[in-house]
Amino acid sequence: AGAPLVDGFQRSITYLRLSVTDRCDLRCSYCMPERMQFLPRKEVLSLEELYKLSLGFIARGVSKIRITGGEPLVRRDIVELFQALGRKIGDGLDELTLTTNGTQLADHSDALYAAGVRRINVSLDTLDREKFAQLSRRDALPQVLEGIRAAKKAGLSVKINAVALKGINEREIADLVGWAHAEGHDATLIEVMPLGEVEGDRVDHYLPLSQVREELESRWTLTTSAHATGGPARYVDIAETGGRLGFITPLTENFCAGCNRLRVTATGQLYPCLGGGERVDLRAALRSDSPDENLQAALDEALRIKPERHHFDISERGADPAQPRHMSVTGG
Ligand code: GTP
Ligand code: 5AD
Ligand code: SF4
Repeated sequence: AGAPLVDGFQRSITYLRLSVTDRCDLRCSYCMPERMQFLPRKEVLSLEELYKLSLGFIARGVSKIRITGGEPLVRRDIVELFQALGRKIGDGLDELTLTTNGTQLADHSDALYAAGVRRINVSLDTLDREKFAQLSRRDALPQVLEGIRAAKKAGLSVKINAVALKGINEREIADLVGWAHAEGHDATLIEVMPLGEVEGDRVDHYLPLSQVREELESRWTLTTSAHATGGPARYVDIAETGGRLGFITPLTENFCAGCNRLRVTATGQLYPCLGGGERVDLRAALRSDSPDENLQAALDEALRIKPERHHFDISERGADPAQPRHMSVTGG
């Protein structure tokens, strides 16, 4: 095994977020435009390359891999990657998981469980079918709910991820959390980040979680929880629902000091920080004459340039329209 991944701020990197496709069957407005231009398939890493890349990270001490997208389950044969990586659980990997929109879970939950996946995150912002269709531009709520039921039945623990959006799901957040807890799922609320859709005026929908938390506290008893997953959420227990709720607060409460992760896009571009900055081309390394050596050198470069923190500015009226950084490409 190589040297552990430690960045310039003495943060140990143990968590890899690996995007396997930029494609998705939904079009959530905070993530991508309706007419998203998808990458040509040859640009995207092959399953073999994704596996080799993952082994390169595991060799440096990465113990948690989260498969992301786009929507990871729309990639054909993706279950094979879970099966291959699943064999590394207990042999370098502690956790193999994914973040999904849930639409394909009815088909894939059993195979994911068999591959070694135990805990998954499902993005779900509203339980109102029309609002879901508005927000995601697809009428897929029944399919997502069916997928979540299938996941639970297959033995997977499900965490519901909801982006808090002013004027959109603001009034239903408590109901959504209550529903998740009643179904036996953890839930996490997320502050919308200035990534992705570039036409929208995101600041209009930005809802600080400090405010949501106050509202929830007027209804329920929240106590700080020791629960931790290695992700950015900070958890509370809710006495009345008996469930756990996480808060992901990039804007109101910075969590970068505890950052333990790196992210790689479907084309093998490593972004040391979700907040942007320089990236490192792992695909070039993988496709070079000495892939192993060059991959390790690229990881060292990523550690060298990883910034101390993001500098998201929610009032920014969209990124450079010529170079938008869609969430569906970085995988979050
Ligand atoms: P757990 O393993 O359950 O903790 O998952 P996670 O929160 O690490 O992953 P998930 O894919 O569910 O991400 C939830 C939200 O957190 C998404 O909106 C991500 O974009 C965001 N997120 C994850 N990692 C980072 C990060 O390093 N920085 C920032 N700013 N946001 C992140
Ligand atoms: N800000 C915050 N979260 C986002 N997600 C997608 N786009 C954004 C954004 N602009 C969330 C999805 C999913 C996770 C991977 O990231 O809802 O739960
Ligand atoms: Fe780490 Fe950047 Fe995320 Fe902060 S925004 S937690 S530094 S990746």
